[in-house]
Amino acid sequence: MDRIHNFSAGPAVLPESVIREAQEDLWSHAGSGLGICECSHRSPQFDVVIDNARDRIHRLLGCDADQEVLFLHGGARTQFFMLPMNLLRGGRATYIDTGKWSDGAIDDAKLYGTVDVPFSSKSTNYDRVPGPGTLPAVPDGTVYLHYTSNNTVAGTEFHHIPDAGSAWLACDMSSDFLSRPVDGSKFSFIYAGAQKNVGPSGTTVVVIRKSLLEHCDTALPPMLRYGLHVKKGSMYNTPATFPIYVIEKVTAWIEAQGGLEAVEARNVAQANAIYGVVDGSDFWSGKAERASRSLMNVTFTTGDDDRDMRFVQEAAAAGLSGLKGHRSVGGLRASIYNAQTDAAVEALVSFMHDFEKRNG
Ligand SMILES: Cc1ncc(COP(=O)(O)O)c(C=O)c1O
Repeated sequence: MDRIHNFSAGPAVLPESVIREAQEDLWSHAGSGLGICECSHRSPQFDVVIDNARDRIHRLLGCDADQEVLFLHGGARTQFFMLPMNLLRGGRATYIDTGKWSDGAIDDAKLYGTVDVPFSSKSTNYDRVPGPGTLPAVPDGTVYLHYTSNNTVAGTEFHHIPDAGSAWLACDMSSDFLSRPVDGSKFSFIYAGAQKNVGPSGTTVVVIRKSLLEHCDTALPPMLRYGLHVKKGSMYNTPATFPIYVIEKVTAWIEAQGGLEAVEARNVAQANAIYGVVDGSDFWSGKAERASRSLMNVTFTTGDDDRDMRFVQEAAAAGLSGLKGHRSVGGLRASIYNAQTDAAVEALVSFMHDFEKRNG
């Protein structure tokens, strides 16, 4: 069967070449006669996979020698509590509240210390992120500053890195991980569920500074200790081998595309094509403030719930899937992560023009 165009917010579209390689490797990986899902995580065969995945992420993010890449379980949501459980320890943290996921992270952090929230766009339906230089200085004594670089639900994205002052900088990069050049060395802690830009669901990439480990709580169950995961190379228990395998392939694909600059250029062109239609007539309106617009999740509406629903249904019938906005905000959302094809975006743009002609 032919594939349709996939605009899902995650799990999401993967590069075709990676899917085709994975098909082969499920049967026999790297000429071994063993399928990638059937080989031991402690085999030399898998060592190569996880080492390459780790190295490629480290390289793409421009990390330094103090930074370690981990593959952990429990989704990005587990990092909402694992980070403060390890590092907050009754202290003070600053969280920037730009959406459903930062809000969830704030709730979890409050279990482990005091949380300052100098900015929240909740009252305007999370339609914006703070601009550069608009936040008050992070108070002295703050352990870390946490923000969500891309807000998957509202369709907003930071286009700068907030200033954490002397606090550690922590970021939930789940939905724009490796989608553009980022100076990873500026961060003390990064986490990202794999299932948007780099792989299938089932593993969370964590990048942690080894110098943080001495500050982590060690009186925790082993699975919740960052230090142990670093020591064991993400192999304290069985890691999610297939997702890690796919991440290795996707990061190789990113490098083969010309790296993050090339990936970003395509992401910008695709986002501009859709925002161009949204801005091109009064029929559409964007949900996010212009300066905060996401390059990954374009949120928009026809201004009428029934018409939005019809758009979703007719688009699906035309082979364009996953365009319904998140249930908490409604409207429409086109997710255009790294592997989204130009053909899919062209098909969406053309469908939007057609829908507007018929309904405008
Ligand atoms: C920015 C962001 N953070 C966290 C999550 C939660 O991720 P998970 O389902 O991997 O726990 C999501 C899920 O969509 C997300 O978009």
